[in-house]
Amino acid sequence: MDKAQQDALKKAAGIEAAKIVENGMIAGLGTGSTVRFLVDELGRRHQEEGLEFTGVTTSRRTQAQAESYGIKIVDVDDVDHIDVTIDGADEVDKNFNGIKGGGAALLWEKIVAINSNKIVWIVDESKVVDTIGAFPLPVEVIPFGAGHVVSKLAAKGYNPVLRKDADGVEVRTDENNFIVDLHLNRIDHPQDLAEDLINMVGVVEHGLFLNMVDTVIVGDPNGPRVMT
Ligand code: 5RP
Repeated sequence: MDKAQQDALKKAAGIEAAKIVENGMIAGLGTGSTVRFLVDELGRRHQEEGLEFTGVTTSRRTQAQAESYGIKIVDVDDVDHIDVTIDGADEVDKNFNGIKGGGAALLWEKIVAINSNKIVWIVDESKVVDTIGAFPLPVEVIPFGAGHVVSKLAAKGYNPVLRKDADGVEVRTDENNFIVDLHLNRIDHPQDLAEDLINMVGVVEHGLFLNMVDTVIVGDPNGPRVMT
């Protein structure tokens, strides 16, 4: 699948998911290229159809995009609930084990997700896998002592790589932390790995989202399909 085809599937999933948001809702808005299509459609509905809802965003990027359409955005601590959060994912299996954080937003994404009544993911069909782990697993770490965390991850055989941008500068998250990507090839025991990672001092959060999502909307060449 080339990028244009993949973008078309992402767009179709995003437009389909936008139908879930209704007047008066509080909606969590994820991060990434698929979510960009979702927010474009929600922006269109807001401006052309008068859809009024409140958004809680999972990154400054998504906040800026949503606000450019005039969508009302509030802080996660300013709401007592989130009706539904719609987000992308890097991989998901049939048991709804997923990897997120390709866009370095996993921490805010997980905080918004766990405070949501319903979680919907939008993916193109290439993201649906038998076993997760081919996509490098992002882990958010505190910059102080990050070198030691990377060494400990390496000693465990997790093949960590500190994420850098095209200029060779460490990528920073919206919380100013680093991202370490674990090149694991496959993750056979995601729950064990999640527990191991979250118990490491210096690790803030990891990109394993295990059985958290309620519905996955998959952009498919035959039209969007729903996994529940
Ligand atoms: C950002 C994420 C994204 O949702 C994930 O990387 C998917 O991105 P895209 O829609 O661009 O493929 O987890 O941290």
